[in-house]
Amino acid sequence: MPTDRTKFVLDEDRIPRSWYNIVADLAVPPAPVLHPGTGQPIGPADLAPLFPMALIAQEVSSQREIEIPDPVRDAYSLYRPSPLYRAHRLEKALDTPAHIYYKYEGVSPGGSHKPNTAIAQAFYNKQEGVKRLATETGAGQWGTALAIAGALFGLEVKVYMVRASYDQKPYRRMLMETYGAEVVASPSPTTVYGREVLAVTPDNPGSLGLAISEAVEDAATRDDTKYSLGSVLNHVLLHQTVIGQEAILQMEMADEKPDILIGCTGGGSNFAGLTFPFLGQKLRGEADYRVIAVEPEAAPSLTRGVYTYDFGDTAKLTPLVKMHTLGHDFIPEPIHAGGLRYHGMAPLVSLLKERGIIEARAVHQNPTFAAGVQFARTEGILPAPEANHAIRAAIDEALLAKEEGIARVILFNLSGHGHFDLSAYERYLAGALVDYEYPAEQVARALAALPSVG
Ligand SMILES: Cc1ncc(COP(=O)(O)O)c(C=O)c1O
Repeated sequence: MPTDRTKFVLDEDRIPRSWYNIVADLAVPPAPVLHPGTGQPIGPADLAPLFPMALIAQEVSSQREIEIPDPVRDAYSLYRPSPLYRAHRLEKALDTPAHIYYKYEGVSPGGSHKPNTAIAQAFYNKQEGVKRLATETGAGQWGTALAIAGALFGLEVKVYMVRASYDQKPYRRMLMETYGAEVVASPSPTTVYGREVLAVTPDNPGSLGLAISEAVEDAATRDDTKYSLGSVLNHVLLHQTVIGQEAILQMEMADEKPDILIGCTGGGSNFAGLTFPFLGQKLRGEADYRVIAVEPEAAPSLTRGVYTYDFGDTAKLTPLVKMHTLGHDFIPEPIHAGGLRYHGMAPLVSLLKERGIIEARAVHQNPTFAAGVQFARTEGILPAPEANHAIRAAIDEALLAKEEGIARVILFNLSGHGHFDLSAYERYLAGALVDYEYPAEQVARALAALPSVG
């Protein structure tokens, strides 16, 4: 019998002791990562200028469980385990028989799920003698997380912040600087690639793909610096699985099994973090779930992209990975969910979509803000614009359950709070947010520039 409780809280000693690696449960291994120059599968030595060896080993591991080092668990204890909530008030407002649960990652010091991997990445870099990390940030959540992790483990952090977000969110920049990071708007005049882009398009709004190029160039050209990525890669998704492992225990406390799992997808990390431990059960035949990834219409890689090899960045500096992509030089419109403005998708999430193990849908930004506002007014938490995509789908599924008269159990990831996104809410409330049509021509142009592989 489900309980009437609102919050499901685990004690600190229930912070997971290992990360869950979904590769162990896949029938076919993921496609190899290819060298951008030769088109041949890459080895650890090719990645060594960018990442510490421990993370490279995790990137290619097929071991089911990877132990979480004590200093990482110790830093996790600042905010983990995160709470799981039953959205009683939202259910009532929707008058739905569905039971809606959400895992709230906004309790971390940065306000999102991103510290789950930032802490791990800072730890391994520090352990291998790295002094400085370079990274990109879209919404500012990832840069904030790495700035905090850098402060915790004694590393310098340089953040290339996508110009559109840099202008929309000055307080995010100030927060990163307060934690000790150096922040520049991307495209920036501090890299060769940034200068090239600015020469052609001085008012370029930037994109995650472009900021990644700048951060990779920074790391590749300095001996004391490695590169840190906040999403997409296998090791990043791996670190996020603490979310789903805790949620499995918390759903047991609630005495319910989710029918539907939902997460928003930018590069795929919070979605994977919640859903992969559940999907492991599904892949092993122990349970069945419907799993839905929700992305913006302005950057619909999973629903409209092509599943093929592409670069992770605009300047073609990264290795080639097989993923759903809109083309590496596609620049999405400046929607307010800055963390979802990415041309590609995590290879592991892409693979699951390709095999029909997960579903995907794309939504416009106005309906996502409508969902976020309804959520804030019923549950009290102001969600990040990225998370509003997950809330939109959760509400739509709850309304469908009402139409069908079925008491479905829905669990979604509330990946972060929106305290630094108030200018976006202000624009939404003033009716000034634009829903950008799917940019078919731009995508076609970007897809024409896909690299040809084998
Ligand atoms: C709150 C929040 N949710 C979701 C995302 C999307 O990233 P990912 O798909 O890696 O979870 C971001 C990225 O910045 C974010 O800040």
